[in-house]
Amino acid sequence: MSISKKVCLREGLLKDVDRIYRISKSSLPNYYAIHELNYFVKSPKYILVIVEKNDKAIGYVLGHLEKKKTTCSKRDYLRGHVMSFAVQDRYRRLGYGSLLMDKLESLFSSRYNISLMSLHVQTTNEKAINFYEKIGYKKYEFMKNYYFRLGDDGYLMCKIIRRKCKLEENKEKKVTFKESFENIKKEKMKRTLLDDIKKMKI
Ligand SMILES: CC(C)(COP(=O)(O)OP(=O)(O)OC[C@H]1O[C@@H](n2cnc3c(N)ncnc32)[C@H](O)[C@@H]1OP(=O)(O)O)[C@@H](O)C(=O)NCCC(=O)NCCS
Repeated sequence: MSISKKVCLREGLLKDVDRIYRISKSSLPNYYAIHELNYFVKSPKYILVIVEKNDKAIGYVLGHLEKKKTTCSKRDYLRGHVMSFAVQDRYRRLGYGSLLMDKLESLFSSRYNISLMSLHVQTTNEKAINFYEKIGYKKYEFMKNYYFRLGDDGYLMCKIIRRKCKLEENKEKKVTFKESFENIKKEKMKRTLLDDIKKMKI
C-alpha cells in the first residue's frame, strides 16, 4: 500500500458535491442526484467524508444516522448506515477506501455514540463484499430482489462498533441524542455559511 503525503481526509462540503457526483456516476449503478447530495451535506443526520489527493477529491463515503431495528440487532440501537461509497477507479486498492470507512465510523461514534454500522451491497459486487469483510463487516441478511431495478439481490452487512459494556460506560456521560443532534446542526449550518461566504469571496 502506498499513500502519498498529499492526501487529506476531511468532511465534505457543498463545494465538493459536483466532484462527488462525478465519482459516484462513474463508479456505481445507483447514484444520487446533485440536489439530493446538496441536501445530505446540509443535514446533520448525514456524514460525508472525502479523501483528497493533491487537492482533488478521489473518493468519498456518505453515511446516514438511523435508529430503526435491523436483523443485525434486536434493539433499535443508533446506527450509521452507509448510503454511497466509491473511490475513483485508478486509485482503488491503495487503502483509500479503508481510510474513508474508518473516518466515517469514528465520526458516527464520537458524535452520536452509535452501536453499529450497516450497509447494503449487491450480492454480485464481490470486490466490495471482500472489502467490507476485510474491515470487519459481516453478512446478516440475504435480501431477495433488493436491487430490483438492477435485477440483483442484496446483502445487509453490519459491524458492531460498541460492545454492551461500552454502552453502559457511555450512558454515564448523559449526552442525549437531542443535544448531540442540535450541536451538529449548528456546526453544519456554520460551516455551510462559511463555505458559501468563501465562494462569494467576501
Ligand atoms: C469498494 C471500494 C470503495 C474499496 O475502495 P479501495 O480504496 O479500493 O479499498 P482499499 O484499498 O482500502 O481495500 C482494502 C481491501 O478491500 C479488498 N478489496 C478492495 N478492492 C478489491 C478488489 N478489486 N478485489 C478484491 N478485493 C478487494 C481487499 O481485501 C483490500 O485489501 P488488500 O488490497 O490488502 O488485499 C472500491 O473498490 C470502489 O470504489 N468500488 C466501486 C464502487 C463500489 O462498489 N462501492 C461499494 C458499493 S456497496
